[in-house]
Amino acid sequence: MKKHNYCASCLKLNLKRLLLPVIILGFVTLTYLLFMSLTINNYTWIARKIVIPENYFQYFNSQPNKSQTVKDSYTSQFVLEEQQAGNIGRPNNTLQYKYIITETKKCQKSNPFLILLIAAQAWQTEARQAIRQTWGKEDFLPGVHIVRLFLLGREAKTNNALEQKLVTESQEYHDIIQQDFLDTYNNLTLKTLLGLYWVAKYCPHASYVMKTDSDMFVNTEYLVHTLLKPDQPPRKNFFTGYLMKGYLPNRNKESKWYMSPELYPGEIYPAFCSGTGYVFSGELAEKILTISANIRILHLEDVFVGICLDKLGISPVPPPKDSDFNHWKVTYSHCIYNQLVTSHKFLPSELIMCWKHLQQNKHICI
Ligand SMILES: *[C@@H]1O[C@H](CO)[C@@H](O)[C@H](O)[C@H]1NC(C)=O
Ligand SMILES: *[C@@H]1O[C@H](CO)[C@@H](O)[C@H](O)[C@H]1NC(C)=O
Ligand SMILES: *[C@@H]1O[C@H](CO)[C@@H](O)[C@H](O)[C@H]1NC(C)=O
Repeated sequence: MKKHNYCASCLKLNLKRLLLPVIILGFVTLTYLLFMSLTINNYTWIARKIVIPENYFQYFNSQPNKSQTVKDSYTSQFVLEEQQAGNIGRPNNTLQYKYIITETKKCQKSNPFLILLIAAQAWQTEARQAIRQTWGKEDFLPGVHIVRLFLLGREAKTNNALEQKLVTESQEYHDIIQQDFLDTYNNLTLKTLLGLYWVAKYCPHASYVMKTDSDMFVNTEYLVHTLLKPDQPPRKNFFTGYLMKGYLPNRNKESKWYMSPELYPGEIYPAFCSGTGYVFSGELAEKILTISANIRILHLEDVFVGICLDKLGISPVPPPKDSDFNHWKVTYSHCIYNQLVTSHKFLPSELIMCWKHLQQNKHICI
């Protein structure tokens, strides 16, 4: 009994003592949370739902006195026309890259269900050949119109023999677009914009577009029939892939993904999908392209597209299964590859082998 009393009074005393610190702590926590939500969400809800702060666009816009030094800014013909129509506002001192090879008539007969935009390099003849025979085969799925396009830049060293081979290859397959910018990792954003431009200009009514790379395995059949579903009306404002949410800019100068605070001062990237493979509604190409003219070009193309989507107020969605899109190499097994969209780091010969094996054995699963 005594013990109990002692404890009860002790507790009372402690409670009284604790009251003030608890109130202070609570107050501080609340203030902190409010502050954090204001700063973190700067990239999402403030921009859309509340007044857009003056400095919000400053993060993304090419500033007039900086854009002169940013050599790799981009103005496509499409954007130029939009600009002249007064729809968008990138300063008009940006470069325009000439087409070396282009295709303009691939969508004239009918609207494709899926356009495959494949970032490749001029010398990767073997990879292109492997993709043409495997997941990039335009007539692989009966009744589903697929368009395949390789997006190329220019090699650093002028190589006439290679250029001539490319022209011949293009005349045979009609699946190459090449633009006159240096084909480097840091220019990949230009390549993506080139692809978006092509879709917006020549194929705006395609149901879906996939942007991917030349060293990828893509299970086109699974993508088309399980994810996109040609028998259903195409989704609008749809964007999916390997979803990267809450990623912070890499500030380590040694890293491949380094992002300088000057280029991207923000603390966190908006949600984006890994550039190894993302899929979106065809009508988004023009929307992304148009808004991109107001956004400072970032060399990380997937992050850049994520910022464009954020400014459009469109959130990329996760695929039905987390394991659908992979930006690493998934160990091959026909029953696993039968149920995924992408796997990374394939040599052309491996791609052909795995594809053949999958086609022969996919029916054994389930
Ligand atoms: C130009 O840039 C400098 C420093 O980068 C900045 O202080 C200045 O305000 C900028 N001028 C304009 C007109 O934006
Ligand atoms: C913008 O650039 C294009 C192409 O260089 C040019 O034809 C056009 O007149 C320019 N517009 C303005 C407003 O300077
Ligand atoms: C991008 O391409 C342009 C045009 O060829 C070139 O001047 C620039 O150096 C390239 N940028 C990078 C980062 O490679």
